Amino acid sequence: MSDRKEMVVTPWQVSGDIDYNRLIDQFGVEPMTRELEDRIAKHAGFKHLQLRRGVYISHRDLDWWLGEFEKGNRVGLYTGRGPSGHVHLGHLLPWFFCKYLQDAFNAELYFQMTDDEKFLHRPGLTLEEAVAFTYDNALDVIACGLDPEKTHIFSDVDHIHHLYRLGVKVAKRITFSTVRAVFGFDNSVNIGAIWHPALQMMVCFLQSEREGENIPCLIPAAIDQDPYWRVARDVADKMGYYKPAQIHAKFLPGLGEGGKMSASQPDSAIFTVDPPEVAKRKVMMAFTGGRDTVEEQRKLGGRPQVCNIYAYYYFLFEEEDKALVDREHACRSGELLCGECKQELARRVAVFLRDFQARRREARDHLDDFLLEPVARKR
Ligand code: TRP
Repeated sequence: MSDRKEMVVTPWQVSGDIDYNRLIDQFGVEPMTRELEDRIAKHAGFKHLQLRRGVYISHRDLDWWLGEFEKGNRVGLYTGRGPSGHVHLGHLLPWFFCKYLQDAFNAELYFQMTDDEKFLHRPGLTLEEAVAFTYDNALDVIACGLDPEKTHIFSDVDHIHHLYRLGVKVAKRITFSTVRAVFGFDNSVNIGAIWHPALQMMVCFLQSEREGENIPCLIPAAIDQDPYWRVARDVADKMGYYKPAQIHAKFLPGLGEGGKMSASQPDSAIFTVDPPEVAKRKVMMAFTGGRDTVEEQRKLGGRPQVCNIYAYYYFLFEEEDKALVDREHACRSGELLCGECKQELARRVAVFLRDFQARRREARDHLDDFLLEPVARKR
């Protein structure tokens, strides 16, 4: 018991042993249900791997958002990224899912790059670096296959003239004591960081404001972002907009023992820009649920429940449910050893990266088609 690390989950820090049930309690959100997963799948025409594997653990008002769509109303999507470095495979999970939802619900996706947030919170990061990562990371977003007609990527810094008008309206409705309590700010925090939450929250209403029509918004995000949406839901009432709905993803584990994939520990994560050979090396060095010796593993079997390699098959690299179960059994029985299992994953990761990197290169020519435009040019 004593070697369990205390769980910390805030928008700026995720560490320790993550207990999702406790998070659901603490954050006061609804657990995901089979019925809701199936309702999404019905509209999409198939059940996405991430839904089948329980990546989405909780939600707020997802049933309402689906109900609006089922009544024939338009619905929208919002997600984002804090561009402080290269994108790793863990970041791609929710973006792949956004692509699935965009297709299923014919929804516009507003994609926020909070380069301002990263600059304000990271002492060592220059604003120029953060903004450069906005455009670098946008290539990854585009490579996920989103529709240029229905996707609007924007930099808080470069597109502020499209955001500020709504941003100040939201900011006026949030007190300092609220953000201090919700985000745990103390007196040493810079005032930019105090303002930023208004800008992240306003995007919940951006499509509605731009189109002059109240459009239900769903936010796919990791649960650490929930504090923003809690405040945004209070503001929504005051602004006369719908409260944003949410669907919360688990964190993809890193390649090291415990924790999530983290950009701050380069070897714990596979980046989309990693040369396939580098990614292979990282896979081969990864932490597994294997035993100390071959004999022991043959006798006792591996432990997929604590194995990061297994997690990669589970979340990303094994589409077939039956093949996944077979792999799990082979591992538990001691028949499949870690080396072999890693080799196969490394091969799949390399195939994935080659393809993704080609799409990423192509995305450079289409970047402009995805960037947020002024309202006037849209209609
Ligand atoms: N704050 C998020 C981060 O640091 C980025 C973000 C902005 C976001 N808007 C969002 C994430 C909406 C999920 C959904 O990563």
